[in-house]
Amino acid sequence: MRRGLLALGLLMAVSGLPAAPLYLERVEQAEPDARAVAEAREQIEDHEEVTVIEELPLPPFHRRRPIPSTRKQPFCLRCHLPLPHRRDERARTFLNMHSRFVSCETCHMRPDGVKLTYRWLAYDGIDAGSPLPPGTRALREGEEERKGSIVPRQGARIAPFHAGEVALILGDHPFAEAVMTRWENGSVAERATLKARLHAPLEKEGPECGACHGERPMLDLGALGATPEQWRLLRQNAIVRFFERFDDENERLRIDGLLRRKFP
Ligand code: HEC
Ligand code: HEC
Ligand code: HEC
Repeated sequence: MRRGLLALGLLMAVSGLPAAPLYLERVEQAEPDARAVAEAREQIEDHEEVTVIEELPLPPFHRRRPIPSTRKQPFCLRCHLPLPHRRDERARTFLNMHSRFVSCETCHMRPDGVKLTYRWLAYDGIDAGSPLPPGTRALREGEEERKGSIVPRQGARIAPFHAGEVALILGDHPFAEAVMTRWENGSVAERATLKARLHAPLEKEGPECGACHGERPMLDLGALGATPEQWRLLRQNAIVRFFERFDDENERLRIDGLLRRKFP
């Protein structure tokens, strides 16, 4: 840990005190309670059974479109599969698709009372690990409006920043190396504590679609380079609209189901 923080100080050319990324700060401060550790232990024990089953030659249903490998990998993928979302059958394809251009932490780390800003972070190329300069790309000659993707280049992901510094760590960070050594060599009890600590700063569920596609997006799409037209298209996205309606209907179906069970 000490080594991790020192290495980090060298990497960050900041004036004043080099701050640890918010995620690391939060993991260090974490004091998971007995319930969180017990839950983690249960998950790890269940997970071991799942791993054994997954070694059977099943068709690679969830892995048909792997996320292209980048020079830097998210820290989270040291343990999670590249397509980590399975539970919500309806949303998982979209959540996994978003993981190509939205960092895990953007959706899963939104601590209360902390002001985060969002910028593009390079995961690929020689500048992997560095933020990309803000601003909207100028329209090309003859281009009246840009309608395509706002992703500036392959392997760039929207990442959270805190007080001007990137708030997450990448998979090759010294802290990540230390975690993996402990994870691979630890007992079930040690891994349960580690899992609970690493996830204490995280949310189990990410934001609703509307948190980014709605009228008051959590992301400053202009600062991320979207033109007003691209912004409008993201707000009015038909698939997101469909999802929101579907959610309401699902809610109704669920209540109907409950009623039916009560009055057979
Ligand atoms: C050292 C291994 C490890 C790392 C690193 C790790 N996870 Fe996990 N994570 C687990 C395990 C084990 C579980 C529980 C079993 C499962 O759901 O696969 C889990 C579960 C989760 C869950 C489900 C809710 C919960 O808390 O049980 C979310 C969401 C999650 N992780 C997100 C992340 C994100 C985001 C990162 C990166 C910031 C990350 N994880 C890094 C091992 C890890
Ligand atoms: C666009 C937002 C978004 C991004 C990006 C994202 N997640 Fe999630 N994640 C969610 C939401 C929403 C859920 C809750 C889904 C549900 O209702 O089951 C979730 C659930 C999960 C779960 C619970 C298990 C499951 O099957 O759903 C895990 C584990 C997880 N995320 C890990 C990750 C990791 C690792 C990354 C980065 C590679 C990541 N997430 C990126 C939004 C996101
Ligand atoms: C953290 C913010 C965030 C969340 C949460 C989020 N999205 Fe997105 N989504 C984006 C961004 C940014 C883009 C633009 C990607 C691009 O331009 O290539 C996008 C693009 C899309 C697109 C492609 C639009 C197109 O025209 O290419 C669809 C479809 C979509 N999102 C659906 C969803 C659904 C469904 C959910 C909820 C399950 C969701 N999004 C949640 C940020 C988010």
